[in-house]
Amino acid sequence: MKIISTGSAAPELAVTNEMFSRVLDTSDEWIFTRTGIRSRRISTGDTALSMAARAAENAIAAAGIDRAEIGLVVCASVTNEYLTPSLACLLQRDLGLPESILAFDVNAACSGFIYALGIAQQLIPAGKYALLLGSEHLSRVTDYSDRSTCVLFGDGSGAVIAEKSDAPFHFVSGARGDSGVLYIGASPPSPNPFAPPPESSPSKLLHMDGQGVFRFAVEVMVKSVREVASRAGKALGEITHFVCHQANSRIIENAATRLGVPLERFFMNIETRGNTSAASVPIALDELNATGGLRRGDSVILAGFGGGLTYGAIYLEW
Ligand code: COA
Repeated sequence: MKIISTGSAAPELAVTNEMFSRVLDTSDEWIFTRTGIRSRRISTGDTALSMAARAAENAIAAAGIDRAEIGLVVCASVTNEYLTPSLACLLQRDLGLPESILAFDVNAACSGFIYALGIAQQLIPAGKYALLLGSEHLSRVTDYSDRSTCVLFGDGSGAVIAEKSDAPFHFVSGARGDSGVLYIGASPPSPNPFAPPPESSPSKLLHMDGQGVFRFAVEVMVKSVREVASRAGKALGEITHFVCHQANSRIIENAATRLGVPLERFFMNIETRGNTSAASVPIALDELNATGGLRRGDSVILAGFGGGLTYGAIYLEW
């Protein structure tokens, strides 16, 4: 599979650390030194669907393709307003895509876009295009009374158009089931006259053990990047760009040091985007692409990690 175009979308409102310091006991200095974040986009009306639709339109326009030729839509998200219909189905409607399509969502939290690409590579029909997205409206599940998590997350969407190709493409993935380190609870069950009421339900807002996630992230990023490079038969020194999940600049710095790769080869936009979960890798790809950073033939490694716990990496040639 080969990516032929990128697109992204985000809400207008940029919430700075200074804006948080007016409503929370926090500071720009604390947030920036611990995370690398200065501001993040927050929705004042956008949803995961509305942002996904704009990102998709951008990617379709950039590819210059006829949308009737899209045969697969995979959307990674944990913040769709509906359990069903999926974002992918709603995009089929809103973008006017053909009905003879395979459209579904992937729930792998911040690794979601990596999982979506890995799955799409197996499913993309010959002669058709795939629309692959990460879209998150994280502000709808953020606990704005928890200063250790709410300053981290932002909203946004990123999309790519891909086509079937013999170009090198390698995917590694992992999962380590854990509902304690990072979770977002579902709605409590409706009262059921045939079953006792549940003793408790997990909170519907995002909960995270920051240090637990930090250790996990560095460990699996290093492991999956090494593994995918080895499957591609490449030395890390031959990789032009590393585009990783933007959760914390210190996670990327730590992983770069352990991998022995100069930090300049790791794209970073966390300063202005925060952590946009499944959207972060495609938004980063689009930003790198839009600024002329990607050239045909470049060796690129994408890597993600997050809730599930999940992780994954992809090697591809641009
Ligand atoms: N402003 C000011 N102080 C804050 C704060 C904030 N926004 N958030 C937490 N603190 C305080 C804590 O209350 C604690 O105070 P105490 O020592 O008086 O108890 C102190 O800072 C240290 O908290 P701690 O949680 O140990 O900080 P940390 O150095 O681990 O940094 C994270 C917290 C969340 C930034 C860091 O753990 C992290 O980035 N983890 C990875 C998270 C991640 O990437 N998640 C997404 C995965 S997809």
